[in-house]
Amino acid sequence: MTTSRPSGRQFPADFLWGSATASYQIEGAAAEDGRGPSIWDTFSATPGKVLNGDTGAVAVDHYHRTAEDVALMKAHGLHAYRFSVAWPRIQPTGSGAVNQKGLDFYSRLVDQLVEAGIDPVVTLYHWDLPQALEDAGGWPARDTAYRFADYAAVVAEALGDRVKIWTTLNEPWCSAYLGYASGVHAPGRENHADSLAAVHHLNLAHGLGGRAVREIVGAETQLSITLNLHVTRAASASPEDVDAKRRIDGLANGVFLGPLLDGAYPADVLADTAEITDWSFVQDGDLETINTGIDVLGVNYYSTGMVRKSQTPRVPGDGTPGPDGHKSSPLSPWPGTDDIEWMAMPGPHTAMGWNIDPEGLTELLLDLHAAYPDLPLAITENGAAFDDEVAPDGRVHDERRVSYLHDHIDAVGVAMDKGVDVRGYFVWSLFDNFEWAYGYDRRFGIVRVDYDTLERTRKDSSYWYAELIRTGAIPPVESAPELG
Ligand code: FCB
Repeated sequence: MTTSRPSGRQFPADFLWGSATASYQIEGAAAEDGRGPSIWDTFSATPGKVLNGDTGAVAVDHYHRTAEDVALMKAHGLHAYRFSVAWPRIQPTGSGAVNQKGLDFYSRLVDQLVEAGIDPVVTLYHWDLPQALEDAGGWPARDTAYRFADYAAVVAEALGDRVKIWTTLNEPWCSAYLGYASGVHAPGRENHADSLAAVHHLNLAHGLGGRAVREIVGAETQLSITLNLHVTRAASASPEDVDAKRRIDGLANGVFLGPLLDGAYPADVLADTAEITDWSFVQDGDLETINTGIDVLGVNYYSTGMVRKSQTPRVPGDGTPGPDGHKSSPLSPWPGTDDIEWMAMPGPHTAMGWNIDPEGLTELLLDLHAAYPDLPLAITENGAAFDDEVAPDGRVHDERRVSYLHDHIDAVGVAMDKGVDVRGYFVWSLFDNFEWAYGYDRRFGIVRVDYDTLERTRKDSSYWYAELIRTGAIPPVESAPELG
């Protein structure tokens, strides 16, 4: 195990320790109790889109195992559990009639969580758009944002008496650019202008949906959105490379933070993308709606990137996901950046090929705090995939995951020492699960799932994390094996 960071750092008593999952990645039961098809059902059923042809039809069967799974959460001592609601369970065609059985499922889950003393943290949209809405235009169509607001109101009415922490969207960057530009995520469309329209309509959905939730849940609402903000460095101090980083920062972070927190799209992003779109989909009043205010910003963090002005033209891929999940698409996920090159990052890397860089997390939190000093933050996802092995004793000694978590949680603490207001940390993920275009091939869980039997087995990282929650202090990485 490698870590140069000290153990023992103590977190505040009211710091929220949790874990995160998403509906399509864990639930299964894709055709049960009236659930309609989502874009991920369609996409994963399309040959060549997901590794090994995997789909979320069964996933980890959480839909039928909620009692067992909530008991597992309780065994960890989790303070909070971040899960997402599958829109097509609530409105099978994305609008109109509500499927009561879908609402009942989440209502039961919330009851079980509350009973176990675990705060439910609801994400309304973690990528499983009802297929009928995609057929009607998807996120590039403005109407989808209004449909989202209706759906958000239905869920808030049903769960708002017990759920106070609400996240509108998870990583709209992925929905817009991986879904509509590079097409490596559902619905797999490839059009740069559409991806920018999707960015705006996702932002609008946040504003409309967020207002609806607040109106229904009332003053106690903790409204948030979760972003995968990118930490990107320039390969050199040359003006070309620094400008490449500026452009990526705009497309990665500015198009979300700007309208959400400053009430405007950054002028340089509008100028950089002028040849792709005139942004006329931004209508009067939209920016005020989007800038409705949030109570906490969710930050998902995994790794860092580095760019430079390209020396050679971009080579289009053949459409299958490359080692980083994005690059071999015919189109880059980043509109208008074919003259920008992504550098290979030095290791160590996780099984996703992502570099391990805890300093990047501290840097991101410090930058956010400098830009928005009064905005509370929460780490809503952080974790790592590794090729876990089951030892002869039946245990999973995932020491690299323990060390990853150790160092990233310490990196959060470093930022807090410097004055950043971080309220909580949610490990991604509670279980191994359906990792999108990588299917079941990449394991992020602190709990192993045997995909033949669906049996859950706590990995060393699970015991280590439980010890952290129990004591509020970061345990040494070496303690993991004994804790089991
Ligand atoms: C994030 C997603 C989450 C999971 C992790 C590894 O982008 O929000 O569902 O796939 O990556």
